Amino acid sequence: MRKIAVIGGDGTGPEVVKEGLKVLAAVSKIHGFKYEIIDYDLGGARYLKTKELAPDSVLKELEKMDAIFLGAIGHPDVKPGILEQGILLKLRFSLDQYINLRPVKLYNADFCPLKDKKPEDIDFVVVRENSEGLYKGLGEFQKKGAKDEVAIQISHNTRKGVERCIRYAFEYTKKRNKNKKLTLCGKTNVLTFAWDLWQRTFNEVAKEYKDITTDYAHVDATTMWFVKNPEWFDVIVTDNMFGDIITDLGAMIQGGMGIAAGGNINPEGVSMFEPIGGSAPKYTGKNVINPLAAICAVAMMLENLGEEKAAKQVEDAVIKIVKTKLKSLAAGKMGYSTTEVGDLVVKNLY
Ligand code: IPM
Ligand code: MN
Repeated sequence: MRKIAVIGGDGTGPEVVKEGLKVLAAVSKIHGFKYEIIDYDLGGARYLKTKELAPDSVLKELEKMDAIFLGAIGHPDVKPGILEQGILLKLRFSLDQYINLRPVKLYNADFCPLKDKKPEDIDFVVVRENSEGLYKGLGEFQKKGAKDEVAIQISHNTRKGVERCIRYAFEYTKKRNKNKKLTLCGKTNVLTFAWDLWQRTFNEVAKEYKDITTDYAHVDATTMWFVKNPEWFDVIVTDNMFGDIITDLGAMIQGGMGIAAGGNINPEGVSMFEPIGGSAPKYTGKNVINPLAAICAVAMMLENLGEEKAAKQVEDAVIKIVKTKLKSLAAGKMGYSTTEVGDLVVKNLY
């Protein structure tokens, strides 16, 4: 019996998680996958009531789970940074989920904002480092509030952290077995400490993967290629900050936040799966938000748990309804409500 922790979180998080769990229940029945759900009340609402973010006792329990399914964290009445750092980043860091895996896959050309791009043109995966870089929170204010104030924000990159991420990316590229091409996305021309380490590590590890084609692109150029020639990419590996930025662009070219899912992976521990869009306060409680990103996160979770067939079945059902039913992937424009989209996925599991 697998133990799956569920954190609905804030805003539309609980609504999309509910649909994800609906699909999980249906597909698990087909495959005889047994699991137990353990619900955790974390997020802005709880913080406003109790001042608690992610208590150590909860972190301890989460370590013992087989997977975590997260809705969204973010509340309009809480100052930016508190919930993000205190809950989302706290979970990623303390569970050492050092990979953020973000597939960028277009299911229906009608939903792509790029002209003349088809599903076969947009199908790549970003491997984002998820434990270091600018997200480490290192830095300081000097003379805060003064006219000559200085704010320093440090990108902290360790050989160990960079290497484990790059190794994961090479292994992933090999296993994915598509174009067997791995692109390092960085900024070697300006950030000459961090990206020197990344480039050196990348080149060294590459020697062990002779059958994988390697490439390099600066992050600014990468955003240009995402729009101009997304078909050039197979797997991209990058640091935490660049990965955050380019995967929002990635989400847009695959059809929007309504469909974009990600996994915070600890290959040796417990991983956490989430739709990558936020808590969308303005759509909360209206039954209009697109639950497909959360449903795709469930597929990623199933794959991570070794249930590849169930994962594929969920993805195929999503593809089918995205191709034949939904009018749009945007909230309120799908032609169906949140719960109806969940039902449609369930109906199309075959
Ligand atoms: C994401 C989000 C988070 C991040 C925020 C909410 C802290 O944007 O998952 O991409 O920056 O990683
Ligand atoms: Mn982001």
